[in-house]
Amino acid sequence: MNNFWTEPLRIDNLVIPRFMAAPLDGVTDSPLRQVIREFSKEELLMTEMRHVAHVAHEKEPRSLKYTQVEHPLAYQVSANRVQDIDTAVEKIIANGFKMLNLNCGCPSPTVTKSGSGSALMADLPRLKELLLHFNRSINGRIPFTLKIRAGYKFKNAVEVAKLAQDCGVSCLMIHPRTAPEGFTSRLDFDIVREVKEALTIPVIFSGNVNNFERAKKTHELTGVDGFMIGRALWGAPWKLKEITEAAQGRQFTISTGEMVRYALQNFHLNIEHYGERVGFNSFKKQVAQYIRNVDGAAEWRKKLLTSQTAPIMQEYLEALASTYASTPPTVAPTNQGIGL
Ligand SMILES: Cc1cc2nc3c(=O)[nH]c(=O)nc-3n(C[C@H](O)[C@H](O)[C@H](O)COP(=O)(O)O)c2cc1C
Repeated sequence: MNNFWTEPLRIDNLVIPRFMAAPLDGVTDSPLRQVIREFSKEELLMTEMRHVAHVAHEKEPRSLKYTQVEHPLAYQVSANRVQDIDTAVEKIIANGFKMLNLNCGCPSPTVTKSGSGSALMADLPRLKELLLHFNRSINGRIPFTLKIRAGYKFKNAVEVAKLAQDCGVSCLMIHPRTAPEGFTSRLDFDIVREVKEALTIPVIFSGNVNNFERAKKTHELTGVDGFMIGRALWGAPWKLKEITEAAQGRQFTISTGEMVRYALQNFHLNIEHYGERVGFNSFKKQVAQYIRNVDGAAEWRKKLLTSQTAPIMQEYLEALASTYASTPPTVAPTNQGIGL
């Protein structure tokens, strides 16, 4: 018997599980992705969004840096004009990324004021020009996919989705909120169903999926083909695994001690990837999420976030790890993730 949840998803020549990681700028960087891979080996991961001009012109190609374990790995770009697309596409393909995703969903005014991100949903002639250009430039070498919202200010996801499919997009990811709705208002499941019914390409849902029950309910309401896990992975890189296990009727467990050890691993990978100073500072964003479940979390958070050097932070994390060294594995808390 076919089982929707275990049957893989095909996006052109890429065959992947139905659950995948969403891109979170400043969060799902290479170090976190490497820790996610400790649990989830086959699921699609995605880079943080970078503008095509940045990809085309960055002197040291930092944004293209990743480790092989992160595959299958998609690269996400933003764009507001055709200039630089060809150069960016060649670099992305030459660096081995398995998919190129265009961001049409970012609500941040720093992005939308130039016409990129979700603002593209309000400028269909420009969006069409960009989609056709990307498609020509990629020329079938890797799948070209698009991530959208319900709309910019006005909900036009169905129109945008049809345009995308007509312009050669192979898969559509949708976060069903408008730009002013940010990441916390009610999700519009009806518009996702309309999008799914209007398309023949796969449709992936992104929004508040932090356990298998939510994925199941979302599937019932919308008929989508796959699911992106976003904020639920923040400080919980086992979340994808937990959900895919639940989809197969199994229960995932992890101890608080293990959680802290993965935080330590993420910390070391951060230092390795960014260098000590940047790596230590940027890890502050992650560490607060990792330690949500320890006793006296507020106190530990304060210590970790005010630590002045990498060795001090490491010392605190090691102290926490030894405090929880022999805790038994339990079911991880479900409602993890900012705003979920
Ligand atoms: C801090 C943060 C950064 C994000 N960065 C990106 C990004 O770079 N590209 C993108 O397409 N979406 C980005 N998103 C949106 C997420 O990919 C996702 O669509 C959204 O958070 C809803 O899913 P979730 O409820 O599972 O988190 C970001 C969201 C947050 C909260």
